[in-house]
Amino acid sequence: MMVDLMPREVLYVGRRQFSQIAPLRRAGRVYVYRAAEAPGDSPRSLVLSTDMVLVLVLVVLVLVFLWARRPQRPAGLPPGPPTFLIFGNIWFTIQSLRGQLKTELKRYRQTYGDVLGFVLPNGQTAAHLFTYEDIRDACAMPEFAGRPQSFATLLRSYQQQLGIAFNEGSSWAEHRRFALRNLRDFGFGKKSLEETVLDEFEELADEITQEMKAPMKVNGRFGVYVLNILWKLVADQRLDQNDPKTQDHVATVSEFFQAIGPRCPLNVAPWLRHFLPEKSGYSTIIRHRESTAAMFGPLVKEHRRTLERSSPRDFIDQFLIEMESPDAEARQFTERNLAIIGMDFFVAGVETTTSTLTWALLLMVLHPDVQARVQREIDSVVGRRSPSYADRVRMPYTEATLTELYRRTAVFPLGVPRRVTRQRVIPFGVGKRFCLGETLARMEAFMLFTCLLQRFRFSPVPGRMPTMNFKPGVARQPEDFVVNVELREQF
Ligand code: HEM
Repeated sequence: MMVDLMPREVLYVGRRQFSQIAPLRRAGRVYVYRAAEAPGDSPRSLVLSTDMVLVLVLVVLVLVFLWARRPQRPAGLPPGPPTFLIFGNIWFTIQSLRGQLKTELKRYRQTYGDVLGFVLPNGQTAAHLFTYEDIRDACAMPEFAGRPQSFATLLRSYQQQLGIAFNEGSSWAEHRRFALRNLRDFGFGKKSLEETVLDEFEELADEITQEMKAPMKVNGRFGVYVLNILWKLVADQRLDQNDPKTQDHVATVSEFFQAIGPRCPLNVAPWLRHFLPEKSGYSTIIRHRESTAAMFGPLVKEHRRTLERSSPRDFIDQFLIEMESPDAEARQFTERNLAIIGMDFFVAGVETTTSTLTWALLLMVLHPDVQARVQREIDSVVGRRSPSYADRVRMPYTEATLTELYRRTAVFPLGVPRRVTRQRVIPFGVGKRFCLGETLARMEAFMLFTCLLQRFRFSPVPGRMPTMNFKPGVARQPEDFVVNVELREQF
């Protein structure tokens, strides 16, 4: 109810008697009155002045204006939910921030079909493909090889388009080719790398054996060992897992992965970094960037000092040689890009493989019958010698278990967004941008999984059965859990 008022002690409107108790604002003619307690009336009804009516009208006009200016679904965008005000598909965004993306996508799929079109809050459009055939066909097309730039990914590369994983265009293509060629030369798919995996496993097995008396925390257990396998190819070095700097670096990789996921608020509201640097993920991204730069600085210096152009030892040596070519700067063969590519390797190669192994142990604890069957196969094919990657052809049950593991746990549940599409539950992606480390990742997963089950038996801690719940982030990690570990009889 609204009425134009002049200040006075008591006012009657219809049957109601109002007494002025506390003008909240005396500017202009805005007063707030509370209804006196009259029989049959609500004791707290509010009466607003015409100025308040004007404010309300203004609010409505602004809303109408925003509605008229709301991002329109462009012609040709596949069907999808309607847009709302300036926020595009705001409900989809809210659900993804709440970690409910999968449920929401399922609901949309039922309504709109197998190809969904969205308008994101920043006005960009996106499509989500559900079927394998659609994903395969789209990813095979060169125009689908782009990567959308987000605030978070640009922040990590000093606002430049650097590296491989979050880059596109000719610089992405050249550096992807260069990385694949050189990582292959230094060990991808080679027997020598299997030796590195076995050495790392021995270190890991020692650590597990020492901690076997109490329930063993699984999350975070494999990071340094997995990093070391990659590090051998990149820097021909082994990092000491007891060095706080190494532990710190592995931790920042993991935090970074959580921070840049679909829930990263910075991509929707970059200004949040000024008010909530920690909560928005801003500080995490900067910490990871600086920690990688600090790691690469001295390493590059040392490699430069000892470089022998005729016999490069690792990826860094090859990159330094390329940096000497006359057009190196233009092709982004720079020290800064080397650190960003290193960051790509850590981020794409460490957290993913670590998550896969963590899920593997979780599933073995939940399905002891499968664990026992894999162990029987290991015993009959490998026995007590060290496994090799070639053994997998005679170990169909172990291979099938790993395939089921990739399917069930989908470390990258949405793939990594492409410029035009997203993809779902294809562990290493398909098409022009498929995972650059697939050969290494499959080999590492097979070898480390086989080694772990060959030597240890894992079982649930009574009363602390782990669940399939996972933490939010780009790469899916199970929630923290512990397991009981015993040495198998043969060891
Ligand atoms: C189980 C382990 C792994 C899984 C599940 C995995 C999965 C993926 C997926 C789904 C993509 C996105 C592909 C796309 O855009 O369509 C990707 C990209 C990538 N992965 Fe992996 N990956 C793993 C291990 C590794 C390892 C060990 C490396 C080591 C170098 C690595 C390096 C990369 C790089 C550099 C990219 C970006 C490729 C590009 O954008 O061109 N990954 N990975």
